[in-house]
Amino acid sequence: MRMVDLIEKKRDGHALTKEEIRYAIEGYTNGDIPDYQMSAFAMAIFFQDMSTEERAELTMAMVESGDQMNLSDVEGIKVDKHSTGGVGDKTTIALAPLVAALGVPVAKMSGRGLGHTGGTIDKLEAIPGFSVEINTSEFTRLVNKNKLAVVGQTGNLTPADKKLYALRDVTATVNSIPLIASSIMSKKIASGADAIVLDVKTGSGAFMKELDQSKELAEAMVAIGKSLGRDTMAVISDMNQPLGRTIGNALEVKEAIEMLRGEGPEDLLELCLTLGSHMVYLAKQAASVEEAKAKLKEVIANGKALEALKTFIEAQNGDASIVDDPSKLPTAKYLIEVKAAKAGMVSSIVADKIGTAAMLLGAGRATKESEIDLAVGIVLNKKIGEKVEAGESLATLHANSEDVQNVIDMVLGAYTISSGEVIKPTLIYEEIH
Ligand code: URA
Repeated sequence: MRMVDLIEKKRDGHALTKEEIRYAIEGYTNGDIPDYQMSAFAMAIFFQDMSTEERAELTMAMVESGDQMNLSDVEGIKVDKHSTGGVGDKTTIALAPLVAALGVPVAKMSGRGLGHTGGTIDKLEAIPGFSVEINTSEFTRLVNKNKLAVVGQTGNLTPADKKLYALRDVTATVNSIPLIASSIMSKKIASGADAIVLDVKTGSGAFMKELDQSKELAEAMVAIGKSLGRDTMAVISDMNQPLGRTIGNALEVKEAIEMLRGEGPEDLLELCLTLGSHMVYLAKQAASVEEAKAKLKEVIANGKALEALKTFIEAQNGDASIVDDPSKLPTAKYLIEVKAAKAGMVSSIVADKIGTAAMLLGAGRATKESEIDLAVGIVLNKKIGEKVEAGESLATLHANSEDVQNVIDMVLGAYTISSGEVIKPTLIYEEIH
């Protein structure tokens, strides 16, 4: 087989066989196929697309390019959740104990973030003592005992995806549905999921800005999951403004705790109930999605979800007393109000700008080497559809420096205040099965 023939075949719009896809991915991973040929191949896929069968083969070729998590000793149906990412997305921290409280095993491998705030691991490390460095047998033991454990990325998972993603990044081939869908699904399948619930974000702060694009990506991932024997569904949710009211690592942990206490923001709760009910249903812990949702509300109301969070934190050496007393989480030195210049209704908040502002405060990494400040971030006092008076606070910066005029300007620039009525945006657009 020759790579040049495969490039030509895809360039001319023909479907590739399993062997051909394997040849390309294996050869690229082990260095036999050079970057320039893989670039041409990715560009051919970009223009000619791939069938569902090809997408599934590409996914499996990437899964098998490296290690796979062996969760066979974990009892029950392991349901993983994946979000395509957004600003203020602390869903995992609230959702994992919420579904674990209903007996759904959550065996999660998470990463650190290169973005506006840290990833789930960084957020969890805002809890004093919390450790994600646990070996596989301890990880399995904890999931079987408590139904929940989170481990940092270990091993050499999907090296083909890592190499290909870096290449796509510099060859204008990131934005391709078959390549994105297989990239995301390869990581979920290599982490050992039996079933997968996807949260595909749409809007200004999302990877996919338009609803039809987000829907196409969701459909592509669901089709790959199903054709590989994983029960998969997707929810398309709004990212036209940050999720919840906090952006920043410790601040987001605090908001997740409030949600589990039944005192969190409405949008975070609605998203967790929607994603959670599908996870509980796919894990066969409820006879219907409606029943699952009712059970989730019950474990919030009776405190079992909060208990599951405490047990999880304790099991990973964290200080679980932060759940009852979140003031023990890292706090910033300065609270600085960002005030509205005029009265009206908030009609838009550009999520990306708020994310960048949080990063400038130190909540996220600008480069892989950057240190995160776990205490800093932004609390949004006003969200879309809320009234504001001139001089009233739109947002509070939690900062460790007083020299933040650039951040204040960026937050002000993210807000639009209008004089007319504003309708609150829809949170859940669609479910894809
Ligand atoms: N996220 C991924 O993991 N892969 C892509 O290709 C795009 C976004």
